[in-house]
Amino acid sequence: MVSSDITRRMLLKGASASLAGLAGVHTLNALQTQPAAAAQGPSDHPYTGKPQPGDDTRTRRMQWWHEARFGMFIHFGVYSTIQRHEWVMEDEAIPIAEYTAHATTFKPQRGCTRAWAKMAKAAGMKYMVLTTKHHEGFCNFHTKLTDYNAVKQGPGFDIVGEYVESARAEGLHVGFYYSLMDWHHPDGALAATDEAARRRFVDYTHGLLRELLSTYGKIDVLWYDVAWPLDAQGWESERMNQMVFELQPDIIVNNRNKLDGDFSTPEQRIVAESGGRAWESCMTLNDSWGFQRADDNWKSSKTVVRNLITCSRDTGNYLLNIGPRPDGSIPPESVRILTEVGQWMQTNGDTIYASDLCHPRRSNYATFTRKGNTLYMHVHFWPGEYVAIGGLKKKVVSARVLKTGRSLQITQDGFRTKFTGLPMEAPDHPVTTIAIECDSEPMQDNIYVRTNKPRGGV
Ligand code: GLC
Repeated sequence: MVSSDITRRMLLKGASASLAGLAGVHTLNALQTQPAAAAQGPSDHPYTGKPQPGDDTRTRRMQWWHEARFGMFIHFGVYSTIQRHEWVMEDEAIPIAEYTAHATTFKPQRGCTRAWAKMAKAAGMKYMVLTTKHHEGFCNFHTKLTDYNAVKQGPGFDIVGEYVESARAEGLHVGFYYSLMDWHHPDGALAATDEAARRRFVDYTHGLLRELLSTYGKIDVLWYDVAWPLDAQGWESERMNQMVFELQPDIIVNNRNKLDGDFSTPEQRIVAESGGRAWESCMTLNDSWGFQRADDNWKSSKTVVRNLITCSRDTGNYLLNIGPRPDGSIPPESVRILTEVGQWMQTNGDTIYASDLCHPRRSNYATFTRKGNTLYMHVHFWPGEYVAIGGLKKKVVSARVLKTGRSLQITQDGFRTKFTGLPMEAPDHPVTTIAIECDSEPMQDNIYVRTNKPRGGV
């Protein structure tokens, strides 16, 4: 193996793994004092702002997506059968013949996609994104371009087709993940150094995308992944996106075919983009995207809810992953977490969807979101009796606990805004929201407090 492979691999995956830990334990306070920084994940593409296909229709195309805030990512493929993470083929350098044998024993149950869609709906998610083809090269859909597909191999049915119907049946928007990198196709690596191979591979890739976007009716999101080993020119990414918009005029595309696309894709961390640029943070529920039998590093429902709140505060989306088991069933731990999140969303969903950018962000036990003049204080460590905000610069008109409707007494002295009349035990789980009505857009200034709050004598 040459060392550049190792470097590439570490960039793609190692960085992602170390960042996974971060988002899980909430090192998101960088956002408390800093303006949003440009989002860049392991496979993310630095935003250039250059003109490109789709510019003139972006506002219209993206409206539903901005309101949605919460989506389900699904990683499902032959790797799910091997149960050792979706990178197992490369990580363990499995010979191609040994790997493809698993495609014949990959036998998801018909109807499994229904359960995914129902779970997404119950969790309060508004859209889904399924791996139509991951790096392993297996197509979860019917295609004329390769026999290495779900209809011809073990599954015996078009998983993507069933998924599209299931998502629509639940009223969810439909997304397709598509990995440009391909470990199965004979030209998948050769394309970088051999022009004839590149031509074949790019034609194959554009051909698969054309099929995907012509066969299943209206598709709402195209989610490219890992562009190795080519750059935008090599992939002919502009032509690719032009074709995509011709076939699907309302679709939105991400930035992982090395063009800016419509939104950035910070991975395993929450970092807002600046200047109104759209972003979506994608994240695993444990440390694996594809099913990994032994991975028990599950996030708590509290961590997931806090992450969702943080995305919503900064007007980004949260794309949260499930890695179904070989039969297509959702791991019970994921079901438990998503069910708890969904119960919370029943009361609190309106504080998340279609939120406005929120200025207040400093508290040691709460995170905020905003809609108009209403500030939502999401208390994750419940202090009991009262809560308070330092440096809130607007007059509070009323405040109530969202879960119970109980209204609270308010005192404001120019520095501290205090809400009293709260119970000792948190009224909601895993996070309690207090809706705070202000007389204009709520703003917070902590430096004002530090500078001006009267100090005592020595
Ligand atoms: C990375 C990984 C991949 C995963 C993706 C999700 O690029 O290579 O396994 O599908 O991130 O964002």
